[in-house]
Amino acid sequence: MTNSPDRDPTKLRSHRWLAPDDVRSFGHRSRMKGMGFDDIDFTDRPVVAILNTWSEMNTCHSHFRNRADEVRRGILQSGGFPVEIPVMSLGEMMMKPTTMLYRNLLAMEVEEVLRCHPVDAAVLMGGCDKTVPAMLMGAISADIPSIFFPAGPMLKGLWKDVTLGSGSDAWKYWDERVAGNLCDSDWKGIENCIARSAGTCMTMGTASTMACVTEAMGFSLPGAATIPAVMAEHCRLATRTGRRAVEMAWENLKPSTFMTAKSIDNGLMTSLAIGGSTNAIVHLIAIAGRLGIDLSLDRFDELSRITPVLADIRPSGRFLMEDFQDAGGLPAMLLRMTDLINTDCQTVNGVTLGQQIAGAEVINDEVIRPRSNPVSSAGGTCLLKGNLAPSGCVIKSLAADPKLKQHRGRAVVFDNYPAMKASINDPDLDVDENSVLILRSAGPLGAPGFPEWGMLPIPQKLLAKGVRDMVRMSDARMSGTSYGTCVLHIAPESAAGGPLALVKTGDEIEINIPERTIHWHVSDAEIELRRETMPTSIPLPERGYSHLYAKHVTQADKGCDFDFLVGRSPGAEPSIH
Ligand code: FES
Ligand code: MG
Repeated sequence: MTNSPDRDPTKLRSHRWLAPDDVRSFGHRSRMKGMGFDDIDFTDRPVVAILNTWSEMNTCHSHFRNRADEVRRGILQSGGFPVEIPVMSLGEMMMKPTTMLYRNLLAMEVEEVLRCHPVDAAVLMGGCDKTVPAMLMGAISADIPSIFFPAGPMLKGLWKDVTLGSGSDAWKYWDERVAGNLCDSDWKGIENCIARSAGTCMTMGTASTMACVTEAMGFSLPGAATIPAVMAEHCRLATRTGRRAVEMAWENLKPSTFMTAKSIDNGLMTSLAIGGSTNAIVHLIAIAGRLGIDLSLDRFDELSRITPVLADIRPSGRFLMEDFQDAGGLPAMLLRMTDLINTDCQTVNGVTLGQQIAGAEVINDEVIRPRSNPVSSAGGTCLLKGNLAPSGCVIKSLAADPKLKQHRGRAVVFDNYPAMKASINDPDLDVDENSVLILRSAGPLGAPGFPEWGMLPIPQKLLAKGVRDMVRMSDARMSGTSYGTCVLHIAPESAAGGPLALVKTGDEIEINIPERTIHWHVSDAEIELRRETMPTSIPLPERGYSHLYAKHVTQADKGCDFDFLVGRSPGAEPSIH
């Protein structure tokens, strides 16, 4: 192949593995040949890794074997050498206790896999919730040119004439079943219809939220976030992404050259404008941390107060991801907030975000609202502070019952998840619709792993009475597909000695979302007294990954990364011998 002066193959990272006339490089080349490759396949070409999170235990990535081949085609079209490398797959539906326990493990794997191999650029194939932040965190720390390829949402669910949304409608119809309103065959019918294709949840859950955030931060091609997984357009996106990765290798376009604090702000504002998952804030703090940027919950609060919600997508809105795509997708929505976002940020595409969205068009004002008619003028997700959450907690205000946005009630406390499960439907449980349900030992350390237990179930006897929302509080997360008046991520968590550990059934607790406050009506003297008598810490797991995790995971307000991974890494240059 011919190389222009700015395409100097001797500057490629892989050149140091594959080109020298020494015995090590002889070994590398001879083993490549053992796989059937010839010199022309890998000489003087960028080696582009396709990091594939395909697994038969990851229901959302079932099309990734085919998509990897389509990415490969793009890499070959642009003169690169594609190498597919499997990395840990975090499938939200099957993994217990929670994929969040393993986000940092995948991030470490991505970083080290990129560092130790002769790789000049990478295509990151992810989609299901934690795979997105994990792959970005790893690629940022490896600091090798990388482009994210999202799995894309699945098609809309359809049962009889009802459109079904992932997660959200499972919870909704389960409540009806528990209330005695849904027969076995209807319940089975919903089970058969709610997941109609490959792809990620097609509500604005964490996967779609993070895909949009990633695109807004400039880490994927324009329009990538919303293209449904099984559309022909998604195959073409794969090939385009592969082609672009080769160019990025030549340009040495590393995350450190296009990701800034302003890009993180763009991601944050996007997550708010799409009415996105509360999980995005935890992931964005962790992603920013890898860039050496200290993203605080206060910055999130500032942006939450000025960012309107424009995308009318379930669970807080009416439509689904397919509708968002048909309405013009994320570039069209971003075009409606160019006064807020930083349009001068760079992207993987080699142009600014502003240039990237310039030609976009909103096709449907119902799905992507005009600024004059937003879903909400601001505060879709809010930071609350007070004596129960000294380091903050969050609530998706948009998904809460308006009647509960200012509420004071009597606490009904569950010490942990099994205790809650065992007694929530007990007819003798002393609870009514004004109670505040509290779950503790559900945070990063306590559960462990920070599971999505934050949408506590409504007690069966209240469901039967027609109650469908209550104030619920925990140090857990909740699924992006969940809804309700759920206060989440209370920090510090109970297992780290947070005040949540000291709450007792019968205490009065108050939230005021317009004022952004949470207050526990117990005197400081009483709190101190309880602190002396109630245990607040848990034993450390003795071995393996759980031990590493518990020793080093940070609290929710710090992004739950491992403390030793936060900050810029020196990049990816192992010595080669
Ligand atoms: Fe994979 Fe929802 S379960 S995105
Ligand atoms: Mg989810």
